[in-house]
Amino acid sequence: MTVKIFDTPQVQDFLNTVAGFDQAGGSERAKRIVHRLLADLYRLIDDFDVTPEEFWATIGLMNELGKGSQFGLLAPGLGFDHYLDMRMDAEDEARGLAGGTPRTIEGPLYVAGAPVAEGITRMDDGSDSDSEVMWLTGQVRDTDGRPVAGARVEIWHANAKGGYSHFDPSQSEYNLRRTIITDAEGRYRARSIIPSGYGVPEGSPTDRVLKALGRHGQRPAHIHYFISAPGHKHLTTQINLAGDPYTWDDFAFATREELLVEGRPIDDAAEAEARGLEGPFTEVVFDIELSRTEAPELQSRHKRPRALEQAAD
Ligand code: BEZ
Ligand code: FE
Repeated sequence: MTVKIFDTPQVQDFLNTVAGFDQAGGSERAKRIVHRLLADLYRLIDDFDVTPEEFWATIGLMNELGKGSQFGLLAPGLGFDHYLDMRMDAEDEARGLAGGTPRTIEGPLYVAGAPVAEGITRMDDGSDSDSEVMWLTGQVRDTDGRPVAGARVEIWHANAKGGYSHFDPSQSEYNLRRTIITDAEGRYRARSIIPSGYGVPEGSPTDRVLKALGRHGQRPAHIHYFISAPGHKHLTTQINLAGDPYTWDDFAFATREELLVEGRPIDDAAEAEARGLEGPFTEVVFDIELSRTEAPELQSRHKRPRALEQAAD
């Protein structure tokens, strides 16, 4: 039987009590946010006639998500990371800070403390001889086109099976994760391997949520970046390697037209030798434009839980 009780004085008074409105202590902001959240959920229970079985199944699912540290994985799937990006884009626009290379989501798979190199590095540990060699390079410039020397370019990406070191125990420590400091011309160069797209683990609580929505948990092949330099706005972004079937069907909603990069296959011994490589390779070029800012809080990445962040910082 359908009943509607949300708008009754008893329920409204109860909500005020639950949110601590009649208590002197605590945080006003926390009380107002929890009140709003609970009100929306109580109303939803009324409107959809949610049964006790459905409610407790959801609590069980949330416990599983928490046990597996999967909320950071589900959040982008439910569009929260992209929504926060849309809000930050709008804030930049309002502050007159728009321009430069666009941001896109960080994702939950960054690991702090990767080895640091000056100008050039190798990112893969050499154990994957079947993968396509990637030469990843670019120049960091400001929005007036001036090269930014000494910029910190942190790069991380998956291997050819879509796995990330640290989270995938079969890979060596910091495999496919490096920080490169740009040279006098603002350039960075890295030898690595072409990544594949990531997929949410089959049967995981996140996968079950996505399946209930008729969705998949696949991402296209991509490479993550954090770029920072004094006097410039910190940039969190990714590039997508063009031609992936999931380019415009990313479960994490991170693809942006400006961040699509076409790899250039090169099979020329002289070109390979010029880069210290032996055989054919694919060159991926990603130039980055940073906006200038003097605001210190905009020059570093925002805080969030990240693997090994405390240990490394
Ligand atoms: C990733 O960057 O690979 C990623 C992003 C969001 C959810 C899961 C993975
Ligand atoms: Fe990723």
